[in-house]
Amino acid sequence: MRTGRLVVAITGASGTIYAARLLRMAVPAFDEIFLTYSRQALQVAELELDLPGFAADPDPARLADMPCPNVRVMDPHSYFQPPASGSFTHDGMVIIPCSMGTAGRIAAGVSDNLVARAADVCLKERRPLVLVVRETPLSLIHLRNLTALTEAGAVVLPASPTFYGKPTGIDAMADTVAARALHQVGLTPAVVPPWQYKAP
Ligand SMILES: Cc1cc2nc3c(=O)[nH]c(=O)nc-3n(C[C@H](O)[C@H](O)[C@H](O)COP(=O)(O)O)c2cc1C
Repeated sequence: MRTGRLVVAITGASGTIYAARLLRMAVPAFDEIFLTYSRQALQVAELELDLPGFAADPDPARLADMPCPNVRVMDPHSYFQPPASGSFTHDGMVIIPCSMGTAGRIAAGVSDNLVARAADVCLKERRPLVLVVRETPLSLIHLRNLTALTEAGAVVLPASPTFYGKPTGIDAMADTVAARALHQVGLTPAVVPPWQYKAP
């Protein structure tokens, strides 16, 4: 069991399901979750998860398909939000999925929305920042940006599901990625237990 505050951001890379699955694990575990998103994230969420109207009303309960009473949705264009300031303490930020556009802006220090600003704050305050990146293949520019982010203290966690636990469907596959991201901020979700190898 983990308590505390988690910042979650969703961007316009493919894989909104990772954010949905992460919320399902994080909501029961954290006292407060501060959720924001890029404009493009909402379009991709509507498309990938068949959530008509989600862009106009990004209700986390619809995304996670469960009540989310402790999730505060923050306007991505307002910097008058707690995670925009270093004086607001929290246990870490997960950007899931993280587009190459957002990764590049954070790497360049361009805080042009709340996602990038909150990430910038994590780096300057030396707080956990986890980028669940999704793109393939990766260009030299992507790789350089991801290197710069790693050098600055972020954890670059590719959205690469694992299969050795024999996931039974898309949700279970996505859980393997979401659980790894939460592990970086101190949570080990029971739904994806740590690997214990048993010889066949
Ligand atoms: C359906 C769809 C899927 C996309 N998938 C990716 C992706 O996997 N990775 C990526 O870096 N960009 C992807 N993009 C492009 C980003 O959405 C685009 O670069 C956008 O500007 C990112 O903005 P944001 O980082 O502010 O969310 C996708 C776009 C669409 C419409």
